[in-house]
Amino acid sequence: MKPTVEIVLSPLLLPLTDIKGKVVVIIDILRATSTICAALDNGAKSITPVISVEEALSYQSDSYLVAGERNGEKAEGFDFGNSPLEYSREVIEGKHVVLTTTNGTKCIHAAKDADEILIGSFFNLSVLVDYLQASNKPVVLFCAGWKNQVNLEDTLYAGYITQALSNSHEWESDPVEMALDLVEKAKKDPTHYLTRASHAKRFKRLGNNIDLGVCMEFNAHPVLVKYHNNKLVSA
Ligand code: MLT
Repeated sequence: MKPTVEIVLSPLLLPLTDIKGKVVVIIDILRATSTICAALDNGAKSITPVISVEEALSYQSDSYLVAGERNGEKAEGFDFGNSPLEYSREVIEGKHVVLTTTNGTKCIHAAKDADEILIGSFFNLSVLVDYLQASNKPVVLFCAGWKNQVNLEDTLYAGYITQALSNSHEWESDPVEMALDLVEKAKKDPTHYLTRASHAKRFKRLGNNIDLGVCMEFNAHPVLVKYHNNKLVSA
């Protein structure tokens, strides 16, 4: 029998899914999990995800950079916001980062009962798929959404992953079927398709016309990211 793949479309649905003994992939395409992959691929030593702005600020010191956003904008007093473009090798190499975001970092904490927690973004799609295929374990694709609402970009990405796992894994799941349909709808031009996503519209209102396209660069940061000892590290 093949291992299963499931999709959790929103954090509110996580308690309905048994994640013990499974690999959970955290997905927050715009932008937490994209930023995490970019920072670690560009040489950051570790990223500590925390839930609150206050907790993040308590790390501020010579050895930690404090990063993140609230409602899509850099939080006050932080060194960095949450755009992958801010995390170039010149500024991030060798650094430890503490990160808090509106949705994505909370999901990492919510998934603590999982056998293994990994980070998924378009930046690391192929290395992640290779790892999931080889590990032959049940997989839960956990979409961060936006404030507990389902969103397009995380669901679409979950569809790409399930499509790639169709030989190694099996499912009996309506969210998986929905996500696969989204891939069909979007595949001609996924970036254009996602311009209708609410967070893409929010970015536009905030004057950010760049990050949607940036976060859709397939395999631009081919790094496998694991959560280990309360930190995200490149495996
Ligand atoms: C989040 O965690 O909610 C996001 O990554 C939001 C963002 O960066 O705009």
